This record gives sequence, C-alpha cells and structure tokens, in this order.
Amino acid sequence: MKHYSIAIDGPAGAGKSTVAKRIAKRLNFIYVDTGAMYRALALHFIRNNISSDERDKIEEACKYADITIEYVNGEQQVILNGENVSGLIRTEEVGNMASASSVYPPVRLKLVELQRALAAKADVVMDGRDIGTYVLPNADLKIYLTASSAERARRRHLELKERGIDADINEIEKDIIERDKRDMNREFAPLRKAEDAVLVDSSDMTIDEVTETIIDKFNAVK
Ligand code: DC
Repeated sequence: MKHYSIAIDGPAGAGKSTVAKRIAKRLNFIYVDTGAMYRALALHFIRNNISSDERDKIEEACKYADITIEYVNGEQQVILNGENVSGLIRTEEVGNMASASSVYPPVRLKLVELQRALAAKADVVMDGRDIGTYVLPNADLKIYLTASSAERARRRHLELKERGIDADINEIEKDIIERDKRDMNREFAPLRKAEDAVLVDSSDMTIDEVTETIIDKFNAVK
C-alpha cells in the first residue's frame, strides 16, 4: 500500500514542528519529530558525562541507547532505554548537544533507520534537517521552511517566556546562528534545501498561512 510522506526541513525555530503537527492533524497523517530523537540520544550522552568532542565515547554510547517512538493521544513520545524522556529534552543544553553530537555518522545512521521504518508503515509528516535530502529522498512533497535569524530568536524568546524562562534575546540569536552553521556545515547529511524542495520563508507569515500553503502544495501533487 502506498503511504504518503511530506518532508519539512529547515533551521531551528522556523516553525517546523508547529506547522507539521497541524498538517498531520488535518490530513490524518502521523507527525514524526526527528529532532526529538537526536535530543533523546543527546540526553543519553549528557547523562553519561560525555562531551560533544568525545567522538569515540559517543560512538560507543550509541550502542547502549535504545530509542523508540510511541504515540499517546496523537502526540509523539520518545522512549530512551524504556524511559519516556519527552518532557526532559526541550532544554537549550540538550538542543545544543543534539546539534553537536548529530555530526557523527553512527549517531545519524542509528536514527535514520527508525525514521525510514516509520515512513514505510504510515502516512507521515516528518520534520528535521535532512529528511528531503537523505532520509526520504522520494517524499511526495518536500518543504524547506526558513525564517530570518532575528525572527526565529524572537519566537524562541517568546516561547521561553511563556514557560517562565527569562533569556537574553541576543544570546538566543547568537546560539541560533551557531547552531545553523553547525547543522549546515557538517559533512554527513547537512541541512540544506533539496533541489526539488519548495522554499517557504515564514518570517512574515502566520502559522495558518504556512499550514495552508503546504496543504495546498500537497493537494496539488498527491
Ligand atoms: O529540531 P530540533 O531543534 O529539535 O533538533 C535538535 C538538533 O538535532 C538540531 O540542531 C540538529 C539535530 N537534527 C539533525 O541533525 N537532523 C534531524 N533530522 C533533526 C535534528
């Protein structure tokens, strides 16, 4: 049976997960958040006191990390060695470790297998950095969703504020630029727009506008 897939790639804070969740709900697809998988592995490295430059230790630690995905009320849960860590991975520390440790091929290969298996058995909206270029090169629709770093920092700042965390917006933007650079310049499966991806710049668009744009594009190709 044919399963549809929509790949949404782009830098941190472009609105990928918010939009992907809405699209999944509307189309009755499963939302696969691949960043959460890299974050769960990053948490495993942090817990084992491994720093991001310890390549050998990271590669060894991969062998002892079992990552699986479950869905509770339609929400993706990431399970690390039997523990649901979904509530522990949304910190800047884990995000930065995920970006730094995901440069190593063994880290990526471990998760790519899981991502492809999910897309093989359901209709999916999958977001990440290398979905259209590497994980699902035959996706029915590929979107490269971006926004200016200033706008992405503004959104992240607001999001943190809503969670009661007071952060410096300039620091956030600096962090975002650094993360972009690392994600785009790594050797293996870097973040870039696939040739056949549609570029959507969300800097001046609402979430609804971005969602409708992508659903229209999907209806045109399906
Ligand atoms: O989307 P996010 O902020 O949850 O992702 C955290 C980091 O994980 C991101 O900076 C790079 C890495 N990542 C990746 O390399 N490939 C993916 N498909 C998804 C995330």
